[in-house]
Amino acid sequence: MKLSGKVALVTGGTSGIGLATAALFSREGAQVVAVGNDPGRLSAAAAALGGNGIALQADLRRPAEIDRLVEAVRDRYGRLNILFANAGLGLAAPLEAVTEAQIDEQFAVNFKGLFFTVQKAVPLMERGGSIVLTTSYLNTVGTPGLSILSATKGAVRSLARTLGAELAPRGIRVNALSPGPISTPFAGKLGLSQQDLQKVAEHTEAKVPLRRFGEADEVANAVLFLAGPDGSYVTGTELVVDGGLTQI
Ligand SMILES: NC(=O)c1ccc[n+]([C@@H]2O[C@H](COP(=O)([O-])OP(=O)(O)OC[C@H]3O[C@@H](n4cnc5c(N)ncnc54)[C@H](OP(=O)(O)O)[C@@H]3O)[C@@H](O)[C@H]2O)c1
Repeated sequence: MKLSGKVALVTGGTSGIGLATAALFSREGAQVVAVGNDPGRLSAAAAALGGNGIALQADLRRPAEIDRLVEAVRDRYGRLNILFANAGLGLAAPLEAVTEAQIDEQFAVNFKGLFFTVQKAVPLMERGGSIVLTTSYLNTVGTPGLSILSATKGAVRSLARTLGAELAPRGIRVNALSPGPISTPFAGKLGLSQQDLQKVAEHTEAKVPLRRFGEADEVANAVLFLAGPDGSYVTGTELVVDGGLTQI
């Protein structure tokens, strides 16, 4: 088991990529704290951990709730070895329809929430710790209607370099994980009609060299590489898991 004796915090750990990763981490021997905002999904997430950890509610848009979350990790485990800062959301809108509220909401979760999660969790991390930040294939391509979501993900990619530089002297690695189109509830929350969603999915799938959406478990395997001992000399980089979409 690759994460035996490790303690991992996984945000967005109640759904999709985060849930698959939390479950994989627990199978690899870690104690996992899976975090989500919707209380309705917590018990299913806790069950997926098979007794190796807990699921906690926190709204990451609120720094005080991140304080409470980190305090709970400190009380229960006293330390943290792995942080997968992965919670995120997207709201689709063309240039002329983007509102201030949409910008605030996406930056509040995808960037500000992620940043403060790292800032507040790092004091619990020991040398050899690993931080993985979820960015997106959208940080390198232009997709109509996704300007703000893509900008938040560009900011996250940048953060992996800067925080990688800041934390390297403390023996903590920071990397970005860049999923392509993955089958999770994410796209269903973009605010598109069912018909538009279907069109976008078909268009995207046709552009992916491997000709399909990825599965959350396939992303989880890549997170395990970055988070665990196999990635011990890897920091500041971006691991792209997108079926070749942005690479070929
Ligand atoms: N799926 C894709 O195609 C794709 C592609 C590229 C990048 N990504 C990125 O991958 C990450 C995970 O996405 P996913 O596909 O697994 O989507 P998902 O199934 O919708 O999961 C999103 C997770 O983020 C959590 N979250 C959202 N707002 C939150 C808040 N205010 N406070 C705390 N938690 C919050 C959700 O918790 P609740 O459900 O409880 O709100 C949920 O656990 C995201 O950062 C996303 O941008 C996804």
